[in-house]
Amino acid sequence: MESETLLARITDYASRPDPYPLYAELREAGPVAQQTDGSYLIGTYHEIAALLHDPRMSVDPRTRGDVTHKPPFLRLDDPEHHRLRTLAMRPFGPPHSPGRVDSMRGEIDRITGELLASFEAGRRIDIVDDFAYPLPVTVICRLLGVPREDEPLFRAWSDALVAAADVRPDDDSTETDKAGDQARMEMGGYLVNLAEQRRGDPGDDMLSAFINEPDPTLRLTQEELAETAVLLLIAGHETTVNLITNGALTFLRQPEQLDLLRREPDLLPRAVEELLRYEPPVHMRERVPRADMDVAGIKIPQHASVILALASGNRDPMRFHEPDRFDPTRVDNQHLGFGSGIHVCFGGPLARVEAYAALGALIPHLGSARLIEDPPPYRQNAMLRGPRHLSIQL
Ligand code: HEM
Repeated sequence: MESETLLARITDYASRPDPYPLYAELREAGPVAQQTDGSYLIGTYHEIAALLHDPRMSVDPRTRGDVTHKPPFLRLDDPEHHRLRTLAMRPFGPPHSPGRVDSMRGEIDRITGELLASFEAGRRIDIVDDFAYPLPVTVICRLLGVPREDEPLFRAWSDALVAAADVRPDDDSTETDKAGDQARMEMGGYLVNLAEQRRGDPGDDMLSAFINEPDPTLRLTQEELAETAVLLLIAGHETTVNLITNGALTFLRQPEQLDLLRREPDLLPRAVEELLRYEPPVHMRERVPRADMDVAGIKIPQHASVILALASGNRDPMRFHEPDRFDPTRVDNQHLGFGSGIHVCFGGPLARVEAYAALGALIPHLGSARLIEDPPPYRQNAMLRGPRHLSIQL
């Protein structure tokens, strides 16, 4: 059966430049595809959206007895998840008044301008290393209160953690898991130490706010602080880089859409939503049912690994008109790029502000730029998918 090996084929590095035909194959096989390793792959929009909202689906690895330490709230179920998420999202504010994040717009524009200053005609630029990576790193460091110069340190930890968190079918590579655990402990220790330095002497950053929380019912334990800060630092910089780079690549591949955006810059917010649908930075998320359940007539047993292919749901023709077309004027666009349900990304407003600034500033430079390598080399990760480099000649 084709679907038996689909997850292995999707996660195979050779599929990284274009996994979309495999997602089409997945959807054609039906909403639920059981894999030979006992996991289930879900690729249709409505089933993914329903499962993201289903309280029977757990994200906590302890549901299956996998680990003993308490994970970050991305991998906690309610009510534990709700308490930590509420605390962590305070500076991000509700979607229409993004609080502290909103006040960073000026700073984001300034950082973007500084990065673009080196973009001179005739130069060769790597969009990832010279632009799309430094911007979100600088922003999340500022927000958390992490010294920007420590980037080489946390980049290595982040690489190890992201590798361990990837979707790896039939995999028992304990080495990757061990390296991930080690990195999580070191990075957590580093961040707790930074927070401790601000006890009683707070700055306007999140680590200061966590460590100086006046309400004892809201105060984080040391373990919670470590896990939360690690999650924010990683989520804040491993995703937005892909959104900006995928945007630049899509525009370079589709000069007529680039032209449209140059003529009508007001379309940029819609174009960014369309990128989150068409080339989302997060391709898959895993859930575990607490009890046996039935999905589209197929029985999924308790504790099975259920992989929700968000990127496939985004290309589902049952939900989106001409889903394989990048259409920056698309209006009906409730994509799964930021997930949905109780774990929906609260970094969305920040990621959008960064993407508007970065892509808005980049677009005027792209018209005369040449893509050096297409497809570009991709990062190893299948879940957090994006180019490792994107070289262009200005
Ligand atoms: C383009 C950029 C981004 C994309 C595509 C993205 C995508 C996502 C997705 C799909 C989820 C849901 C995960 C799940 O349901 O299992 C998520 C959760 C999350 N994101 Fe983002 N994200 C982005 C940027 C950010 C930024 C800038 C931050 C800020 C620090 C952030 C922080 C988080 C956190 C903390 C969660 C966990 C929420 C929870 O479990 O309640 N993300 N993100």
